[in-house]
Amino acid sequence: MVNQDILCGWNEEHSKALGNDNLFVQHRMMESGLFSDENLIRILDRHPVADMTVSTMGRDKMNYEWFECNRNGATGEQLLDVVKRGHLWINVMRLMDHHSDLRKLINDAYDELESRCPGLEATHRTANLLISSPSAIVYYHVDTPLNILWHLRGEKKCWVYPLRSPFVSQSDLEDLHAGQRPEDMHYLAEFDDEAEVYEMVGGDMVTWAQNTPHRVENTSGLNISISTEHLTTHARRQINVHLANRMLRKKLGCKNLSSSPDGFLANAKVAGSRAARLISRFLPTKAEEKFKYPVRYQVNVEAEGGISSLEGVEASSATLESVERATQELAGVLASGTSDASDASDTSEKTLSQRDAASTSV
Ligand SMILES: [Fe+2]
Repeated sequence: MVNQDILCGWNEEHSKALGNDNLFVQHRMMESGLFSDENLIRILDRHPVADMTVSTMGRDKMNYEWFECNRNGATGEQLLDVVKRGHLWINVMRLMDHHSDLRKLINDAYDELESRCPGLEATHRTANLLISSPSAIVYYHVDTPLNILWHLRGEKKCWVYPLRSPFVSQSDLEDLHAGQRPEDMHYLAEFDDEAEVYEMVGGDMVTWAQNTPHRVENTSGLNISISTEHLTTHARRQINVHLANRMLRKKLGCKNLSSSPDGFLANAKVAGSRAARLISRFLPTKAEEKFKYPVRYQVNVEAEGGISSLEGVEASSATLESVERATQELAGVLASGTSDASDASDTSEKTLSQRDAASTSV
């Protein structure tokens, strides 16, 4: 485990930026020794199959294409081999539930952040291990909770965009929090002109304000990162305000709504959102179903790229529309069990569950 502080060169400016602005600093997670090839293979072999996805994607940032691949019985060693030479992205989800050494590392990192940032209470902590090919990309998207990318091995480039229109619209954020649209947002190439760009190597950490749009392209080598997510009181208020605004917009036709989680109006929205959640508890609910991306490929260690098309399924590209259709199915399930303005904690759990299954976020 790491013998010193996990965060390097942390100062007061970093504390102010955390959760409120873009923040790029260094960390020592690699010194834990938990991310060698040998240990990655051990993790891949031990981790529950249900909590891991193997995906492939397109190569054009403008054209959303994301497919799941059947693991096809591949061992951890074989998976690591195909991800090194293919165009793949493995998401090892719920690390903290299944690996005590990684749970300790993540909790140590969060505890240190809390000790360095007065007033910070990082709740609902989760962590995913991302193992991705040298050419893998993650498309332009927004995450619902606060998240931090702890980069460990390889090189990647991360674009972080302004949190405002036209980069992301208020109504899209409201729909995202209500489970009514996917995390992937409308992207234009010219957005890059106003992005902050971080070229990351092992030992770099980047984070941003809640709901900030971002995308990633790997640039060299096998990429290993940990993506952690958490909530704070402020983040929960923000989710409730988005949900209340959506209700006010859809049901009462209100316009020009503030999305600020602070102030008297925000207090009323949070209270209204929670009240709606309480009422919804008396309504009948349906069992939740997991979102799934189309499974078009299977791992094939004999194939050049490490995967092959599933028999009888044309290996054509999925379009954004097809992904959105699948997400809307999930949204229908979620909406059937809750009101538009459900409690923030419940919504976050659902969104995290959707995200974990969708596996497109960093
Ligand atoms: Fe993300």
